[in-house]
Amino acid sequence: MHEIVRREEMASGDVILNEIEAPLIAKKAKPGQFVILKADERGERIPLTMADADPERGTITVIYKVVGKSTELFKSLEEGDSYQDAVGPLGQPTHLEKVGTVACVGGGTGVAVLYPITRGLKGAGNRIISIIGARTADRIILEEEMRAVSDELFVCTDDGSRGHHGFVTEILKRVLEVETLNLAVAVGPVLMMKLVSDMTRPYDVKTIVSLNPIMIDGTGMCGGCRVLVDGENKFACVDGPEFDGHKVDFDQLMQRLDAYQSEERESSKAHRCRLDE
Ligand code: FAD
Ligand code: FES
Ligand code: MG
Repeated sequence: MHEIVRREEMASGDVILNEIEAPLIAKKAKPGQFVILKADERGERIPLTMADADPERGTITVIYKVVGKSTELFKSLEEGDSYQDAVGPLGQPTHLEKVGTVACVGGGTGVAVLYPITRGLKGAGNRIISIIGARTADRIILEEEMRAVSDELFVCTDDGSRGHHGFVTEILKRVLEVETLNLAVAVGPVLMMKLVSDMTRPYDVKTIVSLNPIMIDGTGMCGGCRVLVDGENKFACVDGPEFDGHKVDFDQLMQRLDAYQSEERESSKAHRCRLDE
């Protein structure tokens, strides 16, 4: 069992932070890696990136958006409640090295995944220009945390309620025109990561994206998380989740993410299990 020792609500309750007891995972966790959590015996296996890990406290922190049945169930867990299972750390850690100037671009809850990567890249000695965005001001997450690990931070909202009125890609366009970037990292909605990769390609700026295909086992056995990268099938859980954005087939990823929408809608409806009857 993995007790929730801290629980916070962000973005008007749409986004939840859980700090969870998981000493063995906390000892090994590196930026870019994720865990799979299960709330109870019958629970769905849900992959979530570790936004933080504290080996001394023996805890890991996840930040997730409430989007469907399992994340609704997770939201109902209070401080002192426990997740039944936590598996990890999974996936390849971010490759952290000093390359020069790095643009870190995050949209929505993607900022939770971007934050530990940005902190790692800052720690490696890079100059960091961060651009984070959300639909509205109250949906911006981790602004102060991102500011603390960035040399410059731009905030964008779709409705103009905070920072630049518009998309993160508009600020990135300006940055690309005036700066020589050595690396870009983009995490957020698939369409955002596709647009960022399309924008950096003509400037020949290497671009890392963190992919979130549907995962089941998370250990390379089921093939559920396969993504097409440079024409080859890769398993995001073991080969990723980070890949070269200039080589990813984003259209296929979007199709695969939507593949079970009717089942997901159905599972969210009140369900009376008759198996035990
Ligand atoms: P559902 O209603 O079941 O699904 C809603 C949508 O979520 C689906 O249409 C699909 O696109 C996606 N999804 C559903 N099941 C899965 C699954 N088993 N694996 C992946 N995606 C799924 N979200 C965060 O908010 N914060 C994170 O830090 C985060 N990190 C992730 C890291 C990785 C490596 C991956 C693969 C995904 C990550 N996600 C993260 C996405 C998160 O796993 C999904 O939002 C969650 O599984 C949705 O479950 P649900 O039952 O609540 O919603
Ligand atoms: Fe099964 Fe990646 S989740 S192979
Ligand atoms: Mg689900």
